[in-house]
Amino acid sequence: MRKLVYYVAGTLDGFIAAPDGSYDFFPLVPEPDVLAHTMATYPQTLPTFAHAQFGIDRPEGRFDTVVMGRGTYEPGLAMGVTSPYAHLQQYVFSRTLPPAAEPEVEIVADDPVAFVRALKARDGKDIWLAGGGQLAGQLLPEIDELILKLNPIVAGSGVPLVTRDFDPRRFTLVEARPFDSGLLILRYTRSEGGQDSDD
Ligand SMILES: NC(=O)c1ccc[n+]([C@@H]2O[C@H](COP(=O)([O-])OP(=O)(O)OC[C@H]3O[C@@H](n4cnc5c(N)ncnc54)[C@H](OP(=O)(O)O)[C@@H]3O)[C@@H](O)[C@H]2O)c1
Repeated sequence: MRKLVYYVAGTLDGFIAAPDGSYDFFPLVPEPDVLAHTMATYPQTLPTFAHAQFGIDRPEGRFDTVVMGRGTYEPGLAMGVTSPYAHLQQYVFSRTLPPAAEPEVEIVADDPVAFVRALKARDGKDIWLAGGGQLAGQLLPEIDELILKLNPIVAGSGVPLVTRDFDPRRFTLVEARPFDSGLLILRYTRSEGGQDSDD
């Protein structure tokens, strides 16, 4: 079955953006070694408008779909980017946005858990959960893999990795890759038995 993979950049204290939603305290262009790794492993997580800059023609990889909340979609929208990942089918969760003009962008007002379960039941590649914290909080029981780009930064406050009531879930570390810049990419899978019995 297709997996839901939360691939996200965070701080040591668990934030993915500043309290105002900005994220320019993370490197906007990854360090060369990190960029090389991203291009080799997850080029599809680079926005389509950046492909020419990085010499990417058509990115191939494990995903064919991305899901994100309006809070994650909107910074791009504010810059006129209506289809940030045009190489993927994009589902944007929102109860306020109008339908998108692009066929590859669908605005979804349905329950995220039921929607993602239905997506997983279809044939296809894995599903990238781009964020943000609100959507990831609701989808936590459905996250099969968590890939955290852990930056050597303590932010103090901000948008959390997940916004959810206290509900500890266990993940199993399967890969830890340090980079010279101090970034650490941690890859976890959801631990069997680490979920609530009703999931
Ligand atoms: N560091 C990283 O790698 C990374 C990755 C992604 C995002 N971010 C940052 O995270 C921030 C966004 O995170 P966030 O937690 O504030 O917001 P978010 O999860 O991206 O989006 C929240 C919005 O999603 C919609 N939504 C949530 N639950 C829904 C449901 N059940 N049904 C339908 N729509 C639903 C709502 O939109 P409506 O109000 O329109 O209904 C809600 O306001 C941004 O600052 C972004 O830059 C960082």
